[in-house]
Amino acid sequence: MINPKRTIEIGVYTGYSLLATALSTPPDAKITAIDPKAEWYEIGLPFIKRAGVEHKIDFIHSPALPVLDYLLLQEEKEGSFDFAFVDADKHNYGNYHDRLMKLVKVGGVIIYDNVLWGGTVANPDGDINLPADKKMITMMAIEFNRRIADDERVEICVAPVGDGLTICRRVS
Ligand SMILES: C[S@@+](CC[C@H](N)C(=O)[O-])C[C@H]1O[C@@H](n2cnc3c(N)ncnc32)[C@H](O)[C@@H]1O
Repeated sequence: MINPKRTIEIGVYTGYSLLATALSTPPDAKITAIDPKAEWYEIGLPFIKRAGVEHKIDFIHSPALPVLDYLLLQEEKEGSFDFAFVDADKHNYGNYHDRLMKLVKVGGVIIYDNVLWGGTVANPDGDINLPADKKMITMMAIEFNRRIADDERVEICVAPVGDGLTICRRVS
């Protein structure tokens, strides 16, 4: 993918990945960055400003689903994004995928973070002593990974770096 000019980031926290996207996109790129915790974004904001890329970022202080639904109400937004990065509430990854498949253009890329969930997806009944909430995320990650692997509208590649990234290209 060359020159992603319109991108969406779901799950900003203090903005590590957001800054990476902002630094690696063209000067006129716009990033719609969504997170319900503005106070974390504000911690990273001085560094974003110092890097000279704040003008690219439209930070939306909200849970992501209603924002994506609002974007989809505007017909011109369909297929208008080149790239999306998802690193937020894991139980909504399927919901994000449904919406991003309309917002991101054919040929565009969506990356989902944490798809290996500490390796637990490979052995959900194994001896890693996970608390119930983490175990639930393991099961959600397995379900999401299966779903996306079966989705013929995308080509995917799982990069086993960090906590696992699924790089997903919309092909239809
Ligand atoms: C792992 S952190 C993101 C890290 C960030 N991508 C980075 O590289 O620094 C997860 C973030 O998802 C956000 N989050 C949780 N629920 C969300 C939701 N419903 N919509 C959007 N963001 C959400 C959290 O507030 C948190 O900032």
